[in-house]
Amino acid sequence: MAHDFLLFLLFSYIISTNIHACKQTERSSLLSFASTLSAPPLINWTSLDCCHWKGIACDQDGWVTHLLLPSKGLKGGISRSSLGNFTHLTHLNLSHNSLYGSLETQFFLSLNRLEFLDLSYNLLSGELPLSLPSSNIRIVYLSSNYFHGAIPSSFFQQASNLTSFNVSNNIFRGSVPSSICLKHSSPFLRLLDFSSNVFNGNLAPGLGECSELQVFRAGHNNLSGLLPEDIYNATKLEEISLPLNSLRGAISDKIVNLTNLAILDLYFNQFSGELTFNLGKLSKLKFVTLDFNNLEGALPPSLMNCTNLIELHLGSNNLEGDISMLDFSRLSQLTKLDLRLNNFTGAMKILMSSKSLQALMLSGSFEGEAMPVGDDMVHFDVFQNLRLLSMAYCQLTGQIPIWLSKLKNLEILQLGFNQITGPIPSWLGTLPRLFYISLQNNQISGEFPKQLCRLPRLIYEPNIASQMDDTSYKFELPFFLGPIISNPSYYLWSTLSSYPATIDLSKNNIVGDIPNEIGQLQLLRQLRLGSNNFSGIIPNQISNLINLEALNLSMNHLFGKMPSSLATLTFLKDFDVSYNNLQGLIPTSTQLQSFDASTFEGNPKLCGAPLPNKCGRPNKVADEDNNNNKDEDNGHQLPWFNIFVVLGFIVGFWAVCGSLVINSTWRYTYFRFIDNTQDSLYVMITGHIIAMKRRFRG
Ligand SMILES: *[C@@H]1O[C@H](CO)[C@@H](O)[C@H](O)[C@H]1NC(C)=O
Ligand SMILES: *[C@@H]1O[C@H](CO)[C@@H](O)[C@H](O)[C@H]1NC(C)=O
Ligand SMILES: *[C@@H]1O[C@H](CO)[C@@H](O)[C@H](O)[C@H]1NC(C)=O
Ligand SMILES: *[C@@H]1O[C@H](CO)[C@@H](O)[C@H](O)[C@H]1NC(C)=O
Ligand SMILES: *[C@@H]1O[C@H](CO)[C@@H](O)[C@H](O)[C@H]1NC(C)=O
Ligand SMILES: *[C@@H]1O[C@H](CO)[C@@H](O)[C@H](O)[C@H]1NC(C)=O
Ligand SMILES: *[C@@H]1O[C@H](CO)[C@@H](O)[C@H](O)[C@H]1NC(C)=O
Ligand SMILES: *[C@@H]1O[C@H](CO)[C@@H](O)[C@H](O)[C@H]1NC(C)=O
Ligand SMILES: *[C@@H]1O[C@H](CO)[C@@H](O)[C@H](O)[C@H]1NC(C)=O
Ligand SMILES: *[C@@H]1O[C@H](CO)[C@@H](O)[C@H](O)[C@H]1NC(C)=O
Ligand SMILES: *[C@@H]1O[C@H](CO)[C@@H](O)[C@H](O)[C@H]1NC(C)=O
Ligand SMILES: *[C@@H]1O[C@H](CO)[C@@H](O)[C@H](O)[C@H]1NC(C)=O
Repeated sequence: MAHDFLLFLLFSYIISTNIHACKQTERSSLLSFASTLSAPPLINWTSLDCCHWKGIACDQDGWVTHLLLPSKGLKGGISRSSLGNFTHLTHLNLSHNSLYGSLETQFFLSLNRLEFLDLSYNLLSGELPLSLPSSNIRIVYLSSNYFHGAIPSSFFQQASNLTSFNVSNNIFRGSVPSSICLKHSSPFLRLLDFSSNVFNGNLAPGLGECSELQVFRAGHNNLSGLLPEDIYNATKLEEISLPLNSLRGAISDKIVNLTNLAILDLYFNQFSGELTFNLGKLSKLKFVTLDFNNLEGALPPSLMNCTNLIELHLGSNNLEGDISMLDFSRLSQLTKLDLRLNNFTGAMKILMSSKSLQALMLSGSFEGEAMPVGDDMVHFDVFQNLRLLSMAYCQLTGQIPIWLSKLKNLEILQLGFNQITGPIPSWLGTLPRLFYISLQNNQISGEFPKQLCRLPRLIYEPNIASQMDDTSYKFELPFFLGPIISNPSYYLWSTLSSYPATIDLSKNNIVGDIPNEIGQLQLLRQLRLGSNNFSGIIPNQISNLINLEALNLSMNHLFGKMPSSLATLTFLKDFDVSYNNLQGLIPTSTQLQSFDASTFEGNPKLCGAPLPNKCGRPNKVADEDNNNNKDEDNGHQLPWFNIFVVLGFIVGFWAVCGSLVINSTWRYTYFRFIDNTQDSLYVMITGHIIAMKRRFRG
C-alpha cells in the first residue's frame, strides 16, 4: 500500500506538468484520502488523470467536484484533514461503507460548495457540527449512523437551498427542529426524515412554514404532546409518518386541507377523538395506518370517497358502528383492511365486493355476530383475491360457511376463539393455496376429514412447489395473531410466507381417529389437536411429517403405544401428548427424552424417561400432583386472552415489558426486544409485532 502510494506520487509528479485535466494537489489529496482507508478493494486509482478515476469527476479547471464511492467496502476514519482539501467538491457520496469518525466542528469549513452529501449507512458518530456548510447544500443524508446529541439550532441557518434532510436511524435526542423553515431559512425543503432516533418533547410549530414539504417522518422516537396545528398548513404534504411515539389529541379536522396526502402513518400513539367527517376529501390517500391509538366513533361515510386507498389499518382502537352502512365496493384498490380489536358491528358481507382485497383482519371485533352466510355469497364472486382471512376472537356463531370454498387464493384462515359449530367441511382440503388453518377454541364437531390431508400446499410435490410464485415473500403483514409457543424459539411472522404451515384444531369436540392419511402432509410444521375427543392410536404415519416443529395431541383419548418412529421427528421443538391413555415405553431418542416430563404426564400407563416412573410401575400419586401443577400453570401462563407473537431468530435479546393500555376488554402488554445479533428492535403488543426497526447496535 505505502509502496504503491509512493510510486504513484512519484509518477504523477513527473507527469503532472503535461496533464491538464487533473490538478496535482487534488490528486495528492485523493491519494492521501485513499491511504487513510484500509483495504479499499474497489478503488483502482492507477491511471494518470485523476479526473477519470472511478468515482471521481472534475470541473473544467481540474478541480475535483464529485467523490462518489458508495458501497465500496471502504473502512477507516474520515475527518476534516482527509476531506477538507476538496474545496470544489459539490457531490460527496460515501454511503454504505464502514467509515467511522465524527464530523468535527470545522468539518464543513472548506466544503462550502457542497450540494449533495450522503454519508448514510456508515459507523460515524459524535455530534453534528454547528452549521451546514453553505447555501449551496441541497441534500443531506446522514441516516443509519451513530450520530448523537441534539441538532444545533444554528444547523440550518445558512442552508437556504436545502431540499432533503434525512437523519433517520441514529441516536439523536432533544427536540425535532421543526423551526427549520421559519424565517425562510430553508424554504425549499421537500423531505424531512427524523425517524428512529430518541427525539423527545413536543413537536414545536414551524412546519407550517415549509410550503414545499412533501414528506415528514419522525416515527419511532419519544415525541409527546399534540400535533402542532400549523402542520395542516403545509399543504404539499404527501406523507406524514409519526408512528411509535406518544402523541395525543385529536387528528384535527384541518387535515382535510392536506389534499395531497397519500400516506398517513400514525400507528401506536395516543391519538383520540373521531375521524373527521370530511376525511373523504383526502382523495389521494393510499396508505392509512392508525392502529394502536384511542380513536373512537364511527368510520366517516366519506371514507368511501378515498377510492385510491390501498391499505387501511385501524386495528386496536375504540372505533364502533355498523360497517354495512359503508360502500366498500368503491375502494377498488384496497388490498389490506385491518379492523381488528375494535367494536364494529354489521355483517361483513359488505366487504366481499372489494375485488382487490388480499388481507382482511377482523379479529376481536364484530363480537357475537353470526357467521355471514347466504346463497348470494356463494354465487357471487366474493373475495377472489383474498389471501389472509382473520376472524378470530369474535365469538362468531354458525358453521364454517360454504363461501370459503370459493376462495381459491386463500392461504391463511384464522377462525379461532369463536363459537363455531358443525363439522370441518371436507372441501377445505381442496383450497389450492391454503397452508395455515387455525380453528382452535370453537365447538367444532365431527371427525378430522381425510380430505384435509390432500391440501396441495402441504403435500410435498416438487412440481407444485416450484409453481408457487414468490409474492408471499413480499406480502408484508403488520403483525400476527397466533398461539404462544412455550419454548424460547422465536419466529418473525411478518410476511405471508413466514407463517409456518399449520393445522390447529385445539379445544373443539372433534372425535374419531387421527387419519393415517395425515402422513401425506409432509410440509406441515405445526399440528395441534389438543383438547378434543380424538381416540384410537397415534398413527405411525405421523412420523412422515418430517418438517414438524410442533405436535400437540394432549387431552384426548388416544391410546396404545407411542409409535417408535416418532423418534425420527428431529425438528420437533414443541411436543405434548399429556392426558391421554397412552401406554408402554416412551420411544428413545435424543429428541423425545429432552422434553420435560409434563409432556407425557397424565398417561398413567406410559413409562420410561423423562417420566419418573419406570416401566411396569405406574405411579398414581405422582400423576395427581402433576395434574394440580398443570392447572396452576395453565392459569398462570395462559390467560383467557392470549395472543402472542413469536419472534424470529433471536439469539441474545434484551426485553423490557410493561403494561400499556388498559380498557375494559383488552389488556395490552408490550415488549420491546432488542436483538443484538440482528441490530433490530421489535416492539410487540400482546403478541402483535408492531415495529421492527434497525436502531440500536453494538
Ligand atoms: C491540504 O492542503 C494543505 C495546504 O493547502 C496542505 O498543507 C495539506 O498537506 C493538504 N492535505 C492533504 C491531505 O492533502
Ligand atoms: C485497475 O486498473 C487497471 C488499469 O486501468 C486495470 O488494468 C486493472 O485490471 C484494474 N484492476 C481492477 C481490480 O479493477
Ligand atoms: C449515493 O449513492 C447511493 C448508491 O448509489 C444512491 O442510492 C444514493 O441516492 C446516492 N446519494 C445521493 C445523495 O445521490
Ligand atoms: C439557491 O437557490 C436559488 C433559487 O433556486 C438560486 O437562485 C440561488 O443561486 C441558490 N443559491 C445558491 C448559493 O446556490
Ligand atoms: C431516509 O433514509 C433511510 C435509509 O437510511 C431510508 O430508508 C428512508 O426511506 C429515507 N427517508 C426518506 C423520506 O426518503
Ligand atoms: C421520553 O420522554 C419522557 C418525557 O416525555 C422522558 O421522561 C423519558 O425519559 C424519555 N425517554 C427516553 C428514552 O428518552
Ligand atoms: C396557516 O396559514 C394561514 C394563512 O397563511 C395563517 O393565517 C394561519 O395563521 C396559519 N396557521 C397556523 C396554525 O400557523
Ligand atoms: C384550508 O386552507 C385554506 C387556504 O388554503 C384556508 O382558507 C382554510 O382556512 C384552511 N382550512 C383549514 C381547516 O385550515
Ligand atoms: C363523495 O364525493 C362525491 C363527489 O365529490 C360527493 O358528492 C359525495 O357527497 C361524497 N360522499 C361523501 C360521503 O362524502
Ligand atoms: C361496544 O359497544 C357496546 C354497545 O355500544 C358497548 O356495550 C360495549 O361496551 C362496547 N365495547 C367496547 C370494548 O367498547
Ligand atoms: C397442548 O394443547 C393443550 C390443549 O389445547 C394446551 O393446554 C397445552 O398447553 C398445549 N401444550 C403445549 C406444550 O403447548
Ligand atoms: C368427548 O369426551 C368427553 C369425555 O370423555 C365426553 O363427555 C363428551 O361427550 C365427548 N364429546 C363428544 C362430542 O363425543
